[in-house]
Amino acid sequence: MSDSKSTELMEKIVSLCKRRGFIYPSSEIYGGINGFWDYGPLGAELKRNVKDLWWRSMVHYRDDVVGLEATIIMHPMIWKASGHLDTFSDPMSTCRQCKKLVRSDQALEMVEDAEWFQRLQQFYTATAQSLPIAVTVEALEKLEQSVRKKAPNLALVRAREAVSARLVESASSDGAEWSNETQFLRSVSTENPGNGYAHFPCPHCGGELTEPRPFNLMFKSHYGPVESEDNVCYLRPETAQAIFVQFKNVFETSRQKMPFGIAQVGKAFRNEVTPRNFTFRSREFEQMELEFFIKPDEAVAALAGKLATAADGAWQGVPQADWGWEVWHKYWVEQRVRFYENIGLAREDFVEYWQKPDELAHYARATVDILFRFPFGVQELEGIAARGDFDLTQHQKFSGKSTEVFDEELRAAWTKLDDATRQSIKARYESTVRESLVKRGFLESDAAIQATEFSTAYIEKLAKGYYVPHVIEPSAGVDRLILALLCKAYHEVVSTDEKGKSETRVVLKFHPRVAPIKVGVFPLLKNKPELVAKAHAVRDLLRPHMTVFYDESGAIGRRYARQDEAGTPFGVTIDFETLGEKPELLDTVTLRHRDDGRQERVAIADLLPRLLPLIR
Ligand code: GAP
Repeated sequence: MSDSKSTELMEKIVSLCKRRGFIYPSSEIYGGINGFWDYGPLGAELKRNVKDLWWRSMVHYRDDVVGLEATIIMHPMIWKASGHLDTFSDPMSTCRQCKKLVRSDQALEMVEDAEWFQRLQQFYTATAQSLPIAVTVEALEKLEQSVRKKAPNLALVRAREAVSARLVESASSDGAEWSNETQFLRSVSTENPGNGYAHFPCPHCGGELTEPRPFNLMFKSHYGPVESEDNVCYLRPETAQAIFVQFKNVFETSRQKMPFGIAQVGKAFRNEVTPRNFTFRSREFEQMELEFFIKPDEAVAALAGKLATAADGAWQGVPQADWGWEVWHKYWVEQRVRFYENIGLAREDFVEYWQKPDELAHYARATVDILFRFPFGVQELEGIAARGDFDLTQHQKFSGKSTEVFDEELRAAWTKLDDATRQSIKARYESTVRESLVKRGFLESDAAIQATEFSTAYIEKLAKGYYVPHVIEPSAGVDRLILALLCKAYHEVVSTDEKGKSETRVVLKFHPRVAPIKVGVFPLLKNKPELVAKAHAVRDLLRPHMTVFYDESGAIGRRYARQDEAGTPFGVTIDFETLGEKPELLDTVTLRHRDDGRQERVAIADLLPRLLPLIR
């Protein structure tokens, strides 16, 4: 539950985003469209910077990652193979009264934020703390009056007399409806608490929610002029699948060797049941995903003669030939946190959450969620999953096209292994397969037979140098990162003038690397042509290298304040000293630093060497 201070902070951030042109509601003049957001002039620059920085760190600064830009609409079979058609759904309930849809697993969290719900909780705490419960019809009537306006469809409101009578009766007899807070809340939310489904009231009106039903999150459309089942297509719900289906093409055309990665940045679409928390859960958003393909552990063991595991602590260093999937997984978690540190977020802003075995998606061997401390709670910014060979195997199965790679070095290495090593590699694989089959519900005996069959076929292929690569997937949301950066950057500064009047200003303390505008250029006065001409010259000097905002209107303090609110880290002021009023200061400017207001005199010729290392 977010407290009122955090809610207020979020409201301020949302309003600043609109006021300064970072983020607007989509289609606003038509009343908006829930779950869709547009990025204004500053937001578009911020987003571009974030995506460029990710691309540079993932693709340009590495020899082992290449890029891809695939289509949003792809062959529908891809979503059958990936499991999205069958399992990519959220549980959804409908309010029987107001007909609004609510994600069942978020109903409690949503309703907890409502003031009327808190009144019910307070009433319960005050009333039911001692037994027998002293409750009267009059007390329940008062409670009903206090929630009536905001929760008109709550059963206690709709059918006050019946619900109150039942609660009073229960208090004096079996006490069942007062046995705990949840039971009590449920009792006031429904006319018939015995109907089996333990739900919470509708967060919008207090009405009764239906039982959860699975709701597929993919946006559906048709390609071509005829709308039929034969030309159904979907807007991609993640960018990852395109990487898997193009894996073979990229591998064969990019001259990469295993292990290597394919990166993609692009739009994804999910018909979220309840988009919320500003851009955090949107229906159209962008992802930055890397699929890093690695050799299976058995191939690594055969090639390197040993297998490094996470316990060795190797993941902090430079990739090595003996790394198994666990080490690669930890390595990518560390790389991603370092990326965030590099753009102004601190390690303490995150929580690394290792999913428990029963929380893992069916394809994942391990998943780490990088959670960020947003004002509305600690929530996922990025997921880093070790997906085994699930995806490439599925696409091989559904497309009938091989996703295997051939590794000549592996084939040669296998011929040199002694029998004991071959057997131990096979035994290790067989036991992993057996365990996974048992987990999926197979009987021990059946699992053992199947595991032997699988491992025999698998090792035969491996011996010939063939395998389906495994994958580590760091998958981040662009929009969530933008929101995290905005929340982290938001500061209020209170200043008091000589007359004791205080003023609160907003300063967005973006890291210079992500800041939408890097530098503001200000002639001290706009009616002095020499100052203006010099300021234009400084602007033109900087512009090819960074985003510059030229501003000549208003008092210089106001101009600084406007740029502080936009998050511009540096300001350059051209004054009379620049023009040589003091000869020793000819062609120098004032360089102002946003975060501490520090000002220093810098030669125009030194501006680029000073600023460039700070923004790159
Ligand atoms: N390929 C794996 C995948 O898509 P995910 O955890 O569903 O995994 C990855 O999504 C990231 O995409 C999330 O960590 C989040 O940053 C972002 N994301 C997911 N759904 C989103 C939504 N509805 N709105 C904004 N960002 C979202």
